Amino acid sequence: MVDTRSQYLKIKAEVDAAIQEILDSAAYIGGKAVQDFSNALNSYTGAEHTITCANGTDALQIAMMALGLEPGDEVITPSFTYIATTEVVALLRLKPVFVEVDRKTFCMDPEALRKAITPKTKAIVPVHLYGHAAPMKEILEIAAEHDLFVIEDNAQAIGCTYTFPDGTSKKAGTIGTIGTTSFYPSKNLGAYGDGGAIFTNDATLANKLKMIANHGQQKRYYHEMVGCNSRLDAIQAAILNIKLQKLDEYNTARKLVAAAYNKAFAGNDRIITPHVASYSDHVYHQYTLVLEGVDRDGLNKYLAEQRIPSMIYYPVPGHRQEMFATFDLPKYEMATTDWLTERVISLPVHTEMDEEQLAYITGNVLNFINR
Ligand SMILES: Cc1ncc(COP(=O)(O)O)c(C=O)c1O
Repeated sequence: MVDTRSQYLKIKAEVDAAIQEILDSAAYIGGKAVQDFSNALNSYTGAEHTITCANGTDALQIAMMALGLEPGDEVITPSFTYIATTEVVALLRLKPVFVEVDRKTFCMDPEALRKAITPKTKAIVPVHLYGHAAPMKEILEIAAEHDLFVIEDNAQAIGCTYTFPDGTSKKAGTIGTIGTTSFYPSKNLGAYGDGGAIFTNDATLANKLKMIANHGQQKRYYHEMVGCNSRLDAIQAAILNIKLQKLDEYNTARKLVAAAYNKAFAGNDRIITPHVASYSDHVYHQYTLVLEGVDRDGLNKYLAEQRIPSMIYYPVPGHRQEMFATFDLPKYEMATTDWLTERVISLPVHTEMDEEQLAYITGNVLNFINR
């Protein structure tokens, strides 16, 4: 689905030198590289505070811990997302509440959100799925009405810009109370290992997030609260700092791939290409089609036979996952989520795709669908 090696080869000299510098400095944990990367993320995203951590799942967990959520508090997440979004809710013994997504954008449906709020609701976790922003204006309005926290799960949309109706814009992940992201290698800003970050504009919260990620301490060996151990290592920070400077270029390359796919599939009434809402741009972490009247799993198999990877993100929605069996969840009816689960398929999208690869992939997709 991605070609991280070809991308690395283009920046090899810079990356190798940065790694060597860390090895020479022997500052493997923390230090200048991590601080430089946090500062660079603040400049790029416009967030006032960035706290780096070990991965995107920890980032969500630390965010929920910092907001002081108590066991039994309800946290609303979409069902149609990667499991990490909701898993941390369960891990902290909070109560996951699943809501529907919009059929076109695959992101949280504000009307479904409104209906899911109860007196126990404390937080909303919109996910900027596949690289497209959730409808943040509506979500923020609902959150304000009910005094709820908003944690944006921005693991898949770093660099995506959200535009408010008055024309002002913000980077996805910097709009809610807290935003989180992942630097898993295949992400738009991918490390060569694990990594994550947390964004906020609230200085008090930033301090708490930082402490929680570091065993609840500000001063070494004086632990003021229960935290965890979640660090971005210096080698990854140095690599990410180089790649952050190229993030816009990388996202543009992804947009060009999406445009080529869109062109090839235009007019085919069995293929719904990704929608881009007026308030969002799309950084295509995934290029995901919705297929109507097509044997989707057959296409997945056929493409594999042609040595073309394709993926079903996600084959089982959250509300059907066995891990929540003991959570006393209601019997959810999620028509849109189920509809999407049966029809979506993601095609390869990365920064190093060429015309020949694109023609081979689109040709094979169309061969199968039109036969
Ligand atoms: C939507 C979403 N949330 C959270 C995560 C978790 O990130 P990580 O794999 O770095 O823990 C991911 C990434 O895989 C993701 O796609």
